[in-house]
Amino acid sequence: MPRHVAIIMDGNGRWAKERGYPRLMGHRAGAESVREVVRLAGEWGIEALTLYAFSTENWSRSAAEVRGLMTLLAHTLRREAKELNKNGVQLRTIGRAEALPAFVRKELKQTRDLLSNNRGVVLTLALNYGGRQEIVDAVQSALHAGEPVTEETISRHLQTAPLPDPDLMIRTSGEFRLSNFLLWQAAYTEIHVTSTNWPDFRREQFLSALLDYQRRERRFGRA
Ligand code: IPE
Ligand code: IPE
Ligand code: MG
Repeated sequence: MPRHVAIIMDGNGRWAKERGYPRLMGHRAGAESVREVVRLAGEWGIEALTLYAFSTENWSRSAAEVRGLMTLLAHTLRREAKELNKNGVQLRTIGRAEALPAFVRKELKQTRDLLSNNRGVVLTLALNYGGRQEIVDAVQSALHAGEPVTEETISRHLQTAPLPDPDLMIRTSGEFRLSNFLLWQAAYTEIHVTSTNWPDFRREQFLSALLDYQRRERRFGRA
């Protein structure tokens, strides 16, 4: 089983469009996929799950969509907090959270506090996250601490620290790109691309991704 699974949750808009729904309906259905995947990760003994929910580039969407996504995030946290707690989930975020709307930051803090004594799956939400920005911030923070810039110090100053690098990255909606997600950490991550749009990514698709991972031979540059 991979210890750390990262997921690029993409295709909500296309899922909605195919059905003649507004984009926000796709995001709502996507929130159900999140719920299922987090629960299964706990059941299957995955230690860490990192979900790409909002990129630094996503601010360029319409104000209505951005607002809708932020509201959905806050509502979902509020609605799921109890269940997450029951399942022992821990919550972290990566990305520049300070730029998120105050009502979202408040909900994140409340949920994180509620879950702070848990020892189960480490759920990391990437919010206002950009991989390049994270690397720049890590280098700056190493320099600020008076440390030399090395692979070890950069890794240690990344927001994902002390989590191990992801073993498996799942990329939904059929695009073969990283979209600025975990650029540093994905150096040796196994990538599973599925054409499934995120709202349709449920138990069966998660299992296929894990089976695919189990067939990979990880070499890390060795012969
Ligand atoms: C992923 O779905 C959700 C976010 C990026 C916030 P999209 O909204 O990008 O859906 P598509 O790519 O338009 O189908
Ligand atoms: C990737 O989806 C970002 C998130 C899942 C939050 P995008 O829809 O923003 O990615 P691109 O634009 O297709 O690369
Ligand atoms: Mg997209």
